[in-house]
Amino acid sequence: GAFQLVDPFGRRVTYLRLSITDRCNLRCRYCMPEEGVNVLGHDHILSYEELERLAAIFVSLGVDKIRITGGEPFVRKGCLEFMQRLKAQNPSLRLHLTTNGVAVLPYLNALKQLDIGGINLSLDTLDQTRFFEITRRDRLETVLAVFNEIQRLGLPLKVNAVIQPDTRDEELLQLASLVKDAPVALRFIELMPFSGSKKRERLQTEPIEERLQRLFPEMVENAVSGVETARRFTIPGYAGTLGIIEGESRKFCTTCNKLRITSSGMLKNCLYDKGVLDMRTLLRSEPDDARVATEIIRVVGQKLRNGYEVARLHEADCQDSMASIGG
Ligand code: GTP
Ligand code: 5AD
Ligand code: SF4
Repeated sequence: GAFQLVDPFGRRVTYLRLSITDRCNLRCRYCMPEEGVNVLGHDHILSYEELERLAAIFVSLGVDKIRITGGEPFVRKGCLEFMQRLKAQNPSLRLHLTTNGVAVLPYLNALKQLDIGGINLSLDTLDQTRFFEITRRDRLETVLAVFNEIQRLGLPLKVNAVIQPDTRDEELLQLASLVKDAPVALRFIELMPFSGSKKRERLQTEPIEERLQRLFPEMVENAVSGVETARRFTIPGYAGTLGIIEGESRKFCTTCNKLRITSSGMLKNCLYDKGVLDMRTLLRSEPDDARVATEIIRVVGQKLRNGYEVARLHEADCQDSMASIGG
């Protein structure tokens, strides 16, 4: 039945983030080193069959939104067909995608056909030199083509821009111009120091909100509607919205409604925990669905209040890269 996943604080877990691969066709400097992450072998990631089985179990427990992430999901062969099967098997499921846009262009039409709930496109800058500096690849034009095609198809689109210590005002203005005439939610994301970057280093930057208020004095905050990671703002005359994702300051933990499964199959109650259930080992012990469901319910019962409490307990243990967690 619905809503079987309720944590000790009464929060209903209805949103699952599935990282289907740790591989990527970019090398964002805040995510992985130039040489990439040590890529998991075939046997160390969940098969599509295993992922589909899990999705059905989570849906039976009340999950109504699944986000496919990576690495870059479309680097994994068969990603589209997997998403099509997920939707066919769970018609009421809201299926979302987070992508860097590099390889997704040929699939956009099919994603529209499967009634995808929306696409979140990672794009940190519109400056070609900066794009290369950040991602170590020269693919800005491809990503912009994807932006335009998603618009043309009328798919719900959000743009994710990670704000880095050297992000210039000019780049924020250029990104904002993207949403002047397009009904797109642009979200500026606080950089989270994760494995790869030095964890303890607290980066000195002007808070994003102050920065935006300075650049867009007419900007006003929207009323909160539903559970979202982003706080949203409107600028008069803009078709789209600006947003801030204050993940590093743990601003949205009180309404946390999500679980994550890493590419290696670890279930996480929180971005900052080391994994609370090894789904890969569990599934390969040939349990029935009821047993899997019971285990999931059990660990959700251990969800902590917020990312600070989790970090206090687990930070030293969490060795995952953002690419294997999926953001
Ligand atoms: P929507 O479902 O469209 O609201 O997107 P989302 O923000 O949940 O997902 P997306 O993949 O677009 O992630 C955007 C940014 O939010 C990434 O930097 C994620 O790492 C970050 N993020 C998402 N969920 C959490 C969370 O629970 N905690 C923290 N700290 N960051 C998160
Ligand atoms: N801090 C903040 N956001 C990050 N992302 C990847 N690594 C980080 C980080 N260290 C973002 C990507 C993508 C989303 C899934 O997570 O830009 O949009
Ligand atoms: Fe790839 Fe995303 Fe990591 Fe960039 S942040 S290297 S796009 S997984």
